Amino acid sequence: MRLSSRLPPGFEPNALSAALAKLRSEGRAILDFTGSNPTRCGFTYPEAAIRAALSQPGVLAYDPDPCGSPLARAAIAAHHGHGLGAGDLLLTASTSEGYGLLFKLLGDPGDEVLVPSPSYPLFEWLARLEGLRACSVPSYFHERWHLDLGALEVAVSPRTRAVVVVNPNNPTGHFLSQTEWAGLTALCARHGLALLVDEVFADYALEPPPDRLATALLDPDPPCPVFLLSGLSKVAGLPQLKLGWIALRGPGAAEHRAALAFLADQYLSVSAPVQAAAPALLALAPGIREQILGRLRANLAALDAGLAAHPRLSRLPVEGGWSVLLRRPAVDGDEACALRLLKQKGILAHPGSFFDLHGDGHLVLSLLTPPTTFREGLEALLTGV
Ligand SMILES: Cc1ncc(COP(=O)(O)O)c(C=O)c1O
Repeated sequence: MRLSSRLPPGFEPNALSAALAKLRSEGRAILDFTGSNPTRCGFTYPEAAIRAALSQPGVLAYDPDPCGSPLARAAIAAHHGHGLGAGDLLLTASTSEGYGLLFKLLGDPGDEVLVPSPSYPLFEWLARLEGLRACSVPSYFHERWHLDLGALEVAVSPRTRAVVVVNPNNPTGHFLSQTEWAGLTALCARHGLALLVDEVFADYALEPPPDRLATALLDPDPPCPVFLLSGLSKVAGLPQLKLGWIALRGPGAAEHRAALAFLADQYLSVSAPVQAAAPALLALAPGIREQILGRLRANLAALDAGLAAHPRLSRLPVEGGWSVLLRRPAVDGDEACALRLLKQKGILAHPGSFFDLHGDGHLVLSLLTPPTTFREGLEALLTGV
């Protein structure tokens, strides 16, 4: 039987994943610099309060609203501020599911979405699984990252339906500047495109430039439809609870929300327990984020201290987010370098190519890495790249 052409031709792991699985099966200890699951990074969660939030009477009630429970939406609107109301939101089981709904909403099979790259690699598949094509449009680095608005303009085709940006971006940490925002929304308005803005990392500013767009919600009246995505996985470091959301702004927002509600109604995938718990979980979120921010800052400082002894290496600025790009001499390919690090030193780091970074010379490190791993592995990593 033939399977859908939306799927990849095979499911073999890439060379790095295969090498990792082999080493793990041999019982080799791995120093993992790629961890992005906060529940595995040694944070102290307020466990009793999380359990209490998930034990309220509401967790037993089933009263589905395709947009999500008004109480949960009100708490999320209050978390964001900037004039957002419960009526501007639609809840999803994750940010990834939010993309699925938006791609269903916006495109017909064969249509395209433009994605400034480097970026989060899942977009390619999230788009393809909805029959769309994600077209990457390279951003460029000159002292900081810049969207190439000229290249985006050229890349717009009659099949283009939307632009997808991550603010701040993963893994570059690039916050859109206010000028980029104005240019991007004007471009989308000119071409009749929607703008999807993924702000899962917006609460994690590390070295933010003064002209950054802290959130797309600072614009109360964008000239194009804006769909902002976020969720508990980064806002509260609780990916296992599966709650994401889409906030709508701009022309046609009410009509788009009604259409999204129709789509969400076919699945009703957001669980009652997490919706009942959302207000209490969001009240706990600032404390969890403080811990995560402390970790990100401490690891960045440790990296800078380590880099001081390795002048041939450097890092790019981290405006925000959970990752840092390590610059290394591109004497061999980044994937070959990552494989070498893994096999020779038991250190796992991602090559830049995994995130569509152009050319060689970058490894991506997670700043969420537990401090003991970071301390133990850093010197070996810096001497090995
Ligand atoms: C930029 C970005 N968007 C979305 C997600 C997925 O979030 P969720 O767990 O809400 O699906 C991630 C996960 O790492 C991410 O990096």
